[in-house]
Amino acid sequence: MEKYEKLEKVGEGTYGKVYKAKDKVTGQIVALKKTRLEMDEEGVPPTALREVSLLQMLSQSLYVVRLLSVEHVDANSTNSNLDDSNPSKRNHNTTTTTNKSNLYLVFEYLDTDLKKFIDSHRKGANPRPLPPSLIQSFLFQLCKGVAHCHSHGVLHRDLKPQNLLLDQDKGILKIADLGLGRAFTVPLKSYTHEIVTLWYRAPEVLLGSSHYSTGVDMWSVGCIFAEMSRRQALFPGDSEFQQLLHIFRLLGTPTEEQWPGVTALRDWHVYPKWEPQNLVRVVPSLGPQGVDLLSKMLKYDPAERISAKAAMDHPYFDSLDKSQF
Ligand SMILES: Nc1ncnc2c1ncn2[C@@H]1O[C@H](COP(=O)(O)OP(=O)(O)O)[C@@H](O)[C@H]1O
Ligand SMILES: [Mg+2]
Repeated sequence: MEKYEKLEKVGEGTYGKVYKAKDKVTGQIVALKKTRLEMDEEGVPPTALREVSLLQMLSQSLYVVRLLSVEHVDANSTNSNLDDSNPSKRNHNTTTTTNKSNLYLVFEYLDTDLKKFIDSHRKGANPRPLPPSLIQSFLFQLCKGVAHCHSHGVLHRDLKPQNLLLDQDKGILKIADLGLGRAFTVPLKSYTHEIVTLWYRAPEVLLGSSHYSTGVDMWSVGCIFAEMSRRQALFPGDSEFQQLLHIFRLLGTPTEEQWPGVTALRDWHVYPKWEPQNLVRVVPSLGPQGVDLLSKMLKYDPAERISAKAAMDHPYFDSLDKSQF
């Protein structure tokens, strides 16, 4: 890792810290992310290899953050200023005391993420709505990136504004934080014990469905779409139960007719029966086509939820010049 000069911490997420750094030879600014993929005496575990190659393949898309290289850092090396793992903790957690080393992912650097971008439009010196044409463009790029992942059989599972990076000058949005080591679930707590947000989580996941699919990502896309328009989260729940209540209060308590099988899901209970509200009330500036697309992303029955590919053909995007993408 002597190749890189570490500049500053740019983010801290579910799994670790992300640093802005400079390639000492080329001067290129990159983002360095330490993975949870640890190596043992046997080398890189096959699961890690598979995930890294998947990430490499997915990052071929313009709408997925580009993985530039993967660096293998020996935890025992003294010249590494990147390995911030706590030695006492390491010994505590592992059965072996031999050279554990880590994989660092080197990504292209983008100047901001969608959460910071929305925040800057909500508070501070100059609060203002996001321009409708920018919301349209960002949503299209998001759908394009998600369609790309889904066409390769990969679910993101944790789409949220913090995981969408922006190149503000070029108006480009890229999906980041693709499911590395996240095999089947997203943890409830981050490595610093911070609670992982539930705001973008699909109802089938919250209700304990065991075989969910691409619809989970499209639910998140819908929540993000609404949030770009509102500049505040659509369903800001602080527990799994509260999260469901937020959803039910807006979309109505789901019924067997609307969503066959819902009452058989593991965590289904009897809930108060709310009537569906008009979506226009929560996203008044979206326009009729935007509201229609949003309603298709927020269908209760995952089988009825619009796919990323189909969303790209929705009339909401008719006024967008798609040739630029
Ligand atoms: N390539 C990048 N360029 C700039 N900032 C980044 C980049 N990757 C991540 N970040 C910042 O770091 C944060 C955490 O990164 P992320 O990949 O989402 O890790 P985690 O799995 O820990 O959530 C992001 O929300 C973003 O603000
Ligand atoms: Mg993240």
